[in-house]
Amino acid sequence: MRAVIATDFDTEPELAELPVAEPGPGEVLVRLEAAGVNPFDWKVVDGALRGVVEHAFPLVLGSDGAGVVERVGPGVTGLAAGDRVFGQFMDVERGRGSYAEFALAPAEGKLALLPTTLPFDLAAALPTAGAGAHDFVAATEVAAGQIVLVNGASGGVGQAAVQVAAAKGADVIATTDPATAAYLREIGATEIVDFTEAPTVDQVLAAHPDGIDAVVDLVSGPADTGRVADVLRPGGTIVSANGAVDVDAIAERGLHGANLYAKATPETLAALAEAVAGGELKVRIDFKAPLERAPAALERSRAGNSRGKTVLTMQENTVDA
Ligand SMILES: NC(=O)c1ccc[n+]([C@@H]2O[C@H](COP(=O)([O-])OP(=O)(O)OC[C@H]3O[C@@H](n4cnc5c(N)ncnc54)[C@H](OP(=O)(O)O)[C@@H]3O)[C@@H](O)[C@H]2O)c1
Repeated sequence: MRAVIATDFDTEPELAELPVAEPGPGEVLVRLEAAGVNPFDWKVVDGALRGVVEHAFPLVLGSDGAGVVERVGPGVTGLAAGDRVFGQFMDVERGRGSYAEFALAPAEGKLALLPTTLPFDLAAALPTAGAGAHDFVAATEVAAGQIVLVNGASGGVGQAAVQVAAAKGADVIATTDPATAAYLREIGATEIVDFTEAPTVDQVLAAHPDGIDAVVDLVSGPADTGRVADVLRPGGTIVSANGAVDVDAIAERGLHGANLYAKATPETLAALAEAVAGGELKVRIDFKAPLERAPAALERSRAGNSRGKTVLTMQENTVDA
């Protein structure tokens, strides 16, 4: 099968031919139709999990994927050959990932059934970004009538987070450049901050001098000083996707804060699929390419300017979106 692999940390991802593995006890083999690209995919090659877990090289890249169960291993009862499924496939300890024509996954805990109304490319775009948006917004505990800033709203997670927060009845301040402002308003943003124009914190405080209730921070990293939290009113909450919250320091300021990792449980995946199929959650695919162009797609993700999700398709001769 064709797969996109890394042979070591800090190497260039490359297309390779690998044998198709047989599913072991409790596992399923999925013939993937599409894989979703996330920044974490290239961060893993950079060593994001180095020293945290063992890595098996060559490592098939990618987490998110959607396809059809090809075969099930011994003891699997919940899924059968022919089932449409989607979820997370990354298992760096076993060298497994979703940038491949076939991928193994545990039958329980990682995958959900995919309704026939939902295309594979949209499903592949969902797990990490959708679950992240779901978890991060939930952790802010933002309620109807409250104000939340989605910092990084223009990207894959941010666009989902805007919609999840708006569905809770919150007023959503979304960061973006002018080109994507209208789209973010369409999906639920009530205020736009052009982060390319002036610092986001200054703009939010100018509009809300008493502070806002919550922040979903998809931009700041651990090296940042926590300035984004300056937009919060006393008792407000900030949730970071990139470990940017110094929990003790935030508490000393009379604020709440947490660093979170998205959990794409089967229940969350099923809820996301239902929301997309029902039109309540829109997924914007802004770059689609065939599997062999994964290295270019990863470079594109690393370079920025994401205005939605990037999806790789396993069919050859796919035309870019
Ligand atoms: N903890 C978790 O479980 C988890 C889960 C999912 C994602 N994440 C992390 O969350 C982040 C976002 O993920 P994603 O998939 O949405 O990435 P993405 O699709 O690449 O989107 C990132 C967005 O942030 C924008 N941005 C960059 N600098 C900004 C700034 N200073 N102010 C406002 N916006 C800015 C980017 O625009 P420009 O490129 O134009 O600057 C881009 O639109 C990534 O770091 C990812 O690793 C963590």
